[in-house]
Amino acid sequence: MKRTTIAVGEAPVIGRMYRVPCIEYPTIYQGPTMWVPVYGPPHEDREIIGFPHQHYHVDIRFMSVRGLARYSGRINILEELLSYPMTVPVVIAPSLEAGTQPARVAVSPFPILKRRKCYREMPDFPGPVERRLQGFCRSFGPLLEDTYQGCQLKLDNPICPHRGFRLAGLPQKDGLVVCPGHGLRWDLRTGQMRRRCLPPEGKGGESR
Ligand code: FES
Repeated sequence: MKRTTIAVGEAPVIGRMYRVPCIEYPTIYQGPTMWVPVYGPPHEDREIIGFPHQHYHVDIRFMSVRGLARYSGRINILEELLSYPMTVPVVIAPSLEAGTQPARVAVSPFPILKRRKCYREMPDFPGPVERRLQGFCRSFGPLLEDTYQGCQLKLDNPICPHRGFRLAGLPQKDGLVVCPGHGLRWDLRTGQMRRRCLPPEGKGGESR
């Protein structure tokens, strides 16, 4: 079957094979490892959500339901991730800070291109489950949006200024794309961020 390396500006086609960056990672049971498709770049999230470890995010576009269950040890993980995608970290380098050690760390921190099928589009973040959206809008969402309000994306190669996630090739709705990193919402027609949460002190903005 034909395989292509996933291109910068193109959305992958569901059902087609691609060469996707993958990290070798322990399963939840600490048994045999598995290759987990990842979206990056690698980063840490110390501020706002206090996650100090270098990590990628799982790219669930290229994970089968069975693969997700094996990765997470949970049967219903797909529903969970479809409502809050890409937030499962694939830790590649633990922080030295005491008391913060992650349960699992990548066998090798360098991604290798592996043959993977595209199973689904990148879901929205936090997605259709309102409970999740409320959590986002109450916690780090407004602070993150405050920080990046007024930033301007390059329209020919949009990259999220928060952690440098690539935004080209992601599904759009009315010109809006949701960053799979931590949920900032960008208008690719203007390059401006669009709030989805009310700012912390009720200074305007929009909610969905
Ligand atoms: S990388 Fe964090 S919101 Fe885009």
